[in-house]
Amino acid sequence: MSKINVKFPKLYPKQAEFVFSTARYTVVEAATKCGKTVACLAWLLQLALREGRPGRNYWWVAPIFGTTKIAYRRLRRWLAPYEEFARFNDSELLCELPNGASICFKSADRPDSLYGEDVHGAVVDEASRAKEESWHALRSTLTATKAQVKIIGNVKGRRNWAYQMARRAEAGEPDMAYFRLTAYDAAAAGIYDEAEIEDARRSLPEAAFNELYMCIPSDEGANPFGMGAILSCIAPLSTSPPVVFGIDLAKSVDWTVVIGLDAEGRVCRFERWQGDWGQTRRRIAGMVGSTLALADSTGVGDPIVEDLQR
Ligand SMILES: Nc1ncnc2c1ncn2[C@@H]1O[C@H](COP(=O)(O)OP(=O)(O)OP(=O)(O)O)[C@@H](O)[C@H]1O
Ligand SMILES: [Mg+2]
Repeated sequence: MSKINVKFPKLYPKQAEFVFSTARYTVVEAATKCGKTVACLAWLLQLALREGRPGRNYWWVAPIFGTTKIAYRRLRRWLAPYEEFARFNDSELLCELPNGASICFKSADRPDSLYGEDVHGAVVDEASRAKEESWHALRSTLTATKAQVKIIGNVKGRRNWAYQMARRAEAGEPDMAYFRLTAYDAAAAGIYDEAEIEDARRSLPEAAFNELYMCIPSDEGANPFGMGAILSCIAPLSTSPPVVFGIDLAKSVDWTVVIGLDAEGRVCRFERWQGDWGQTRRRIAGMVGSTLALADSTGVGDPIVEDLQR
């Protein structure tokens, strides 16, 4: 085989830790521009060169075609000086190596297209933005080969499969390894300077800065108050009698919640449940009695509020 000498950036220690992790599942939550993509692309290339054989596939998976193409172009640039070495297929985003192995760049927006191959090593880039079904599909391709996968990306809220995988890896589940790199880790390694981080802190909303630079998930749309405000409200229930109730009605998926406040505005009753309308109506009537109550009567609550008012 002909020899090549690709010039990768020299990995800084925190980058090297996740690149050289030998865990089956390596999960990396990292700040933007801290070198996830470059490092893992280098890993996939060296794996394909070292262990590749005719017909073996190595996959790079990214959320959409555009992000997939960025990584493909990067690999193409790295290998450009060695024209004879690798064959690139620009329409299929495929790189064939002299040992017969292929590195394929796949988009996660069509999960069905990811089933069927045996894959010998994979990276999911921008995993927190990639469809969960694409992970299911990719995972199936790693079954026969028992191959390694690196799952990398920014933190993007808590409601995504990558966040769940990260928590399992962080908790020390077998075969999993977890790494977190903040912007300050990248700055300490000289990848970008701290002034740039402070500028981003000033110019971005706090939640966006925390996710993109500090790997801290935002509280998401379901919680408009922020965790800080909620935590500062947590205290033992008041033992004083309620003077007003707040009622949020829900039937099956969500929970019906009833909160009672005492004369000083402290929470003195708190109950939540799931049940049919008959149970919910009886339970509310029992709790509230003739005390003033405010209920959300929009949508599903409309008929039940009318019923309670009678
Ligand atoms: N060890 C390193 N030494 C010098 N430069 C590096 C190193 N690692 C990455 N870089 C450079 O930092 C920049 C960002 O790298 P990369 O695109 O891999 O980051 P990323 O974490 O994937 O960013 P994004 O959040 O956009 O996905 C690139 O220009 C890359 O060449
Ligand atoms: Mg990247």
